[in-house]
Amino acid sequence: MSKVAPKAIHHHFSRIANRYRELRTTDAEPIAFVAKELRELLHVEAADIGCGDGRYDLLLCKDLGDKVRLACVDANDNMLKALDTYLKVHGISNFIAMNSRAEILPFPSGTLDCVFSFNAVHHFNLLGFLQESARILKSGSYLFIYTRLQEQNERNIWGRHFPEFRRKETRLYTFNTFVQTVERVPGLRLQSIEYFEYERVSTLEQLVERARAHHYSTFWLYSAEELEKAIAGFRRNVEHHYKNVSRVKWLDENALFVIRKES
Ligand SMILES: C[S@@+](CC[C@H](N)C(=O)[O-])C[C@H]1O[C@@H](n2cnc3c(N)ncnc32)[C@H](O)[C@@H]1O
Repeated sequence: MSKVAPKAIHHHFSRIANRYRELRTTDAEPIAFVAKELRELLHVEAADIGCGDGRYDLLLCKDLGDKVRLACVDANDNMLKALDTYLKVHGISNFIAMNSRAEILPFPSGTLDCVFSFNAVHHFNLLGFLQESARILKSGSYLFIYTRLQEQNERNIWGRHFPEFRRKETRLYTFNTFVQTVERVPGLRLQSIEYFEYERVSTLEQLVERARAHHYSTFWLYSAEELEKAIAGFRRNVEHHYKNVSRVKWLDENALFVIRKES
C-alpha cells in the first residue's frame, strides 16, 4: 500500500507530540483484554512499536505491573521525549525509550514475549513490520495490533460527515488486506480478532476544534484552504443530521488482532 507524504506526517507527529494525549481519546478496554490474555505469564519482555507519547504504555505498565519490561519504540524523538517525561511523572521505571523504525527493530531474534502496536500500523510498511515481529518474537508468543480499519473509519463521525475524509484517508488497511498480509508471513498465525465499539458524545464546536488541531494525521492531507472549506461542510452536515449539536453522538470502532508466533 502506498504511504502518503511520510515526511509531512513525521513533521505532524513532531509538532503534536506535546498535545497528543489531550487530543485523542484513550481506551482502556484493549489493555484490559491484553492483560487477561497474558495473565499466565510470570514475566513479559515486551515492545510497543509506534508508541507515541506513551498513553497506552502507562496503561500497559499499570495493568501488567512489575512483571513487564517494556521497550517503547518510535521513529519520532519528540514523541519519545514526551513519553519519557509522562511515564516517569507517573512513577513508571520498567521501560526504555528507543528510536527505531517499525520495519527494522533493534532486538535480537527470538527474544520477546510480546509485541504491541496501538493506532500506528497504518503508518508502517505492514509486511515489513510483521516479518520483523516474527523474527524477534519467541515461539508461542504474542503480537497484539490495535487499529482502525478502513471500513471502520468510513462509518465514524468523520467518515460519514467530514467532506473528502474517506477519499483522502487511504493509509488504513482494509480487513482483507490486513488478514492476507498476516497470512503471508511464515511463523505467524492469526488467533482471533476482537472488535471494540465506543459510544462518543461531543459538542460540534469540540469536534471542529479537534479537526483544526489535526488530531488525526488525516487532516494534514488537506491544504489549509481545503480544510476550512471542509470544516464548513462538516458543520452543515452535522447540523442537518443531529437535532442537538451540543450533544453529537457517534460510534468509534477499532479492531484488536491477536497474532501468535507458532511454536
Ligand atoms: C497515531 S500515533 C499513535 C501513537 C500511540 N501508539 C498511541 O496510540 O497514542 C503513530 C505513531 O507511530 C510513529 N511512527 C510512524 N511511522 C513509524 C515507523 N515506520 N516506525 C516507527 N514509528 C512510526 C509516529 O511517530 C507516531 O508516534
